[in-house]
Amino acid sequence: MRTEADRKPPYGGHMTNRESAHEATRQTVLVTGATGSVGRQVVAELLERGHAVRALTRNPEKADFPDGVEVVRGDLTDPASLVPALEGVSGLHLITFGGALFAPLETGAEIAGLARKAGVRRITVLHGGGPTPLEDAVRASGLNWTVVMPVEFMSNALEWAESVRTTDEVQEPFVGRLSAMVHEADIGAVTAVALTEDGHEGQEYVITGPQSLTVQDKVDILAAARGREIRVVELTEEQARERWQAAGQPQDVIDFMIFIYRDTPPEGKNVTDVVQRLTGRPARTLAAWAAEHADRFRA
Ligand SMILES: NC(=O)c1ccc[n+]([C@@H]2O[C@H](COP(=O)([O-])OP(=O)(O)OC[C@H]3O[C@@H](n4cnc5c(N)ncnc54)[C@H](OP(=O)(O)O)[C@@H]3O)[C@@H](O)[C@H]2O)c1
Repeated sequence: MRTEADRKPPYGGHMTNRESAHEATRQTVLVTGATGSVGRQVVAELLERGHAVRALTRNPEKADFPDGVEVVRGDLTDPASLVPALEGVSGLHLITFGGALFAPLETGAEIAGLARKAGVRRITVLHGGGPTPLEDAVRASGLNWTVVMPVEFMSNALEWAESVRTTDEVQEPFVGRLSAMVHEADIGAVTAVALTEDGHEGQEYVITGPQSLTVQDKVDILAAARGREIRVVELTEEQARERWQAAGQPQDVIDFMIFIYRDTPPEGKNVTDVVQRLTGRPARTLAAWAAEHADRFRA
């Protein structure tokens, strides 16, 4: 964890040309949702690119960030708590939901006002799957914003890990549906670029992986990575509803999942070139993700 004193450049009296060039491009970015599955990747990518990262959390004592990250306490439902965290920041990454029940955050206008006052140059917003008050407020703020819209995360495949380990089986409805699922690290990489480089203002980036895959395709890739076959068992819509109800999913979430699974919109299944275009390298494949997580699928 970094302290205030650590924020000063770790240089003596004289910098080499290389050091001063680096210092000129090194920016300080505040990442909210930094302990979440996307925010963690944004933090990692910013560090990888040599930037200074301030990670916001409501519970610094619980957070576990890589070395070099400055952890700051704050709550997005209480904008005043962000004032110290915004000091000296050039980029700000925002989430749109807060709290255990993922309530839409209503504080976007205040947060955007504080960001303007602090001189924040670029804001990214993690899209929440539809319009949200926070995203609307940032879009209307006149600040330089970029909306990042990842499709299905590859890490959702971890929901299958237990049944694969224990029964060599995946049970799913609508197994023919297509998904252009994206590696979480690529969401982090695209977001890090939009937070620290010019030319992304006012853009909405649909971030996908490199392939559109059916459930069977995904399962075959996971099976190859773990070195053992996996069967796909197709559930009826009714069976899927019962299962999700038993798991405690709210009715609106179940209806949304059925709707998306039955007729996936083009944004969910069409591959985009956003990762290649912004990061200069191809989007990571599910095979690469599966190799990184193969042990989670082995008994
Ligand atoms: N799964 C998918 O396939 C998928 C696809 C596309 C988009 N998405 C979107 O991704 C988002 C979920 O992101 P995620 O997985 O990174 O979230 P997550 O893992 O559930 O983490 C939630 C984060 O929100 C922070 N948070 C919650 N309330 C807060 C508050 N009041 N003030 C400050 N921070 C607060 C938490 O920080 P602390 O607890 O540390 O304070 C935590 O870092 C959703 O909006 C979802 O719509 C998901």
